[in-house]
Amino acid sequence: MLDAATPGTDKPRKLVEITDLKMHFPIRSGLLRRHTGDIKAVDGVTFDIYEGETLGLVGESGCGKSTCGRAILRLYEVTGGSVVIEGRDIAALGPEELRKTRPTMQMVFQDPQASLNPRMTVADIIGEPLNEHTTLSSKEKLARIYELMDQVGLNRAFANRYPHEFSGGQRQRIGIARALALNPKFIVCDEPIAALDVSIQAQVVNLLEDLQDKLGLTYLFISHDLSMVRHIADRVAVMYLGRIVELSPRDDLYEDPLHPYAKALLSAVPEPDPAHEAVRQRIILQGDVPSPANPPKGCNFCTRCPEVQPLCHQQDPDLIEVRPGRYVACHFVKPEKPTAGSTGGIEAKERNQQGERR
Ligand SMILES: Nc1ncnc2c1ncn2[C@@H]1O[C@H](COP(=O)(O)OP(=O)(O)OP(=O)(O)O)[C@@H](O)[C@H]1O
Ligand SMILES: [Mg+2]
Repeated sequence: MLDAATPGTDKPRKLVEITDLKMHFPIRSGLLRRHTGDIKAVDGVTFDIYEGETLGLVGESGCGKSTCGRAILRLYEVTGGSVVIEGRDIAALGPEELRKTRPTMQMVFQDPQASLNPRMTVADIIGEPLNEHTTLSSKEKLARIYELMDQVGLNRAFANRYPHEFSGGQRQRIGIARALALNPKFIVCDEPIAALDVSIQAQVVNLLEDLQDKLGLTYLFISHDLSMVRHIADRVAVMYLGRIVELSPRDDLYEDPLHPYAKALLSAVPEPDPAHEAVRQRIILQGDVPSPANPPKGCNFCTRCPEVQPLCHQQDPDLIEVRPGRYVACHFVKPEKPTAGSTGGIEAKERNQQGERR
């Protein structure tokens, strides 16, 4: 999967660079709808997505995964930070420029039922982005619609049917075909299989993987299904209360999570190896997730962390590279030793500080 490299180096090329991204929703109350606070759904998130990779984004319900995915695609007006895709800061583009970059980045939604217009035929749904962004003739458009239907495994004979005539898995295929219509490079998949029957989930995941190989796609794969993420992702970011607490290559994270929250979250995943499964110990966290309208001072996780220290209540830890390619935001996970040629952590920290100054 991960094979695109910057010319002259063996490092994969960054396709998306997210720096100190913030998405706060205002809370309004009273008769005058006064602005009385903010829900800090995404509160300073910094990470890169490499070309051709699948980056998993996991974390419990309400931690800000969907908001993060939508903010990256600028489906919201972001509160702060930057999202650079192929050298352009999506977060700062004007409406016309944004419209022109839309084809590069697309989204596949959780609930295909809700995201497809019930009054449009499959051909109309898949062809809609072509109407808006291309000047294809009707004949060319139909040829492209058929090609897309073939790519996602939908029978061309169903082009004039309506979404309700299809099963959940087929509807998700329609959503994927529509997302592919304009040859995107980057797709945010927000729980693309969560609404499907278990028997259908693997088919849709296989389809997404095949399409990635054939078309060189890059995915941000949002899911709360940690076993599925283990199957599909190259690297995984763990989110807690609007922040990334750990970002590691998949195997490193599942075999040896470093952040206390990542440890607790992954302790719930059954191990495929029976020897490991026999000794697996579940870490049960105490208390509830604090409200994103009122996150704790210091480290976001300090109210529930089994390893909490006084410093955690005062200082917010940066996400730094503690092992090659492994980023952790915890005062007590120290870098092993500086790694030659690896500046990613410092880079991320500097970018964070720049973001704060902005
Ligand atoms: N449009 C909105 N207006 C106000 N608050 C919002 C809005 N969208 C999300 N939130 C709040 O932001 C926080 C993060 O929500 P989000 O949907 O991003 O979480 P999530 O990680 O995707 O959860 P889930 O796993 O349940 O899908 C939640 O507290 C949610 O209530
Ligand atoms: Mg969500």
